[in-house]
Amino acid sequence: MALLKWSDWHELGIPSIDSQHKDLFEALNRLHDAIQSGEGEGFVARTLAFLVDHTVTHFQDEEAQMALAAYPGLAEHQAEHSLMLKRVDEAQTQYLADHSSMKALALGEMMASWAVQHILSMDELFAEAVKAKRT
Ligand SMILES: [Fe+2]
Ligand SMILES: [Fe+2]
Repeated sequence: MALLKWSDWHELGIPSIDSQHKDLFEALNRLHDAIQSGEGEGFVARTLAFLVDHTVTHFQDEEAQMALAAYPGLAEHQAEHSLMLKRVDEAQTQYLADHSSMKALALGEMMASWAVQHILSMDELFAEAVKAKRT
């Protein structure tokens, strides 16, 4: 069963960001399903690597949009992104060192709960500010 289900209320009204958030949900679900169904380490490691790359790109895109809109919450938002990337990076390094599926599962669940909470709080705030600037 999927870990995350995309709903309309996850949409922030910026199509490029919404599309990246949907891809993030799908990648998290792929990781979760792969581990639960006992996929091999190679597949899990590749899915994890995709997730990390996607997250890096997504954070860069959001930060570029915030900078363009002179969003006052940029530094705080950036700090939260950096903290998340650091945690994910550490967890990925640990997984690659011992390939424990429990670690990969815990990492996926941690990222999923962080992503939902972050999208509905900090991303929502920045999206409102960016949209207000455009109108
Ligand atoms: Fe986001
Ligand atoms: Fe964000």
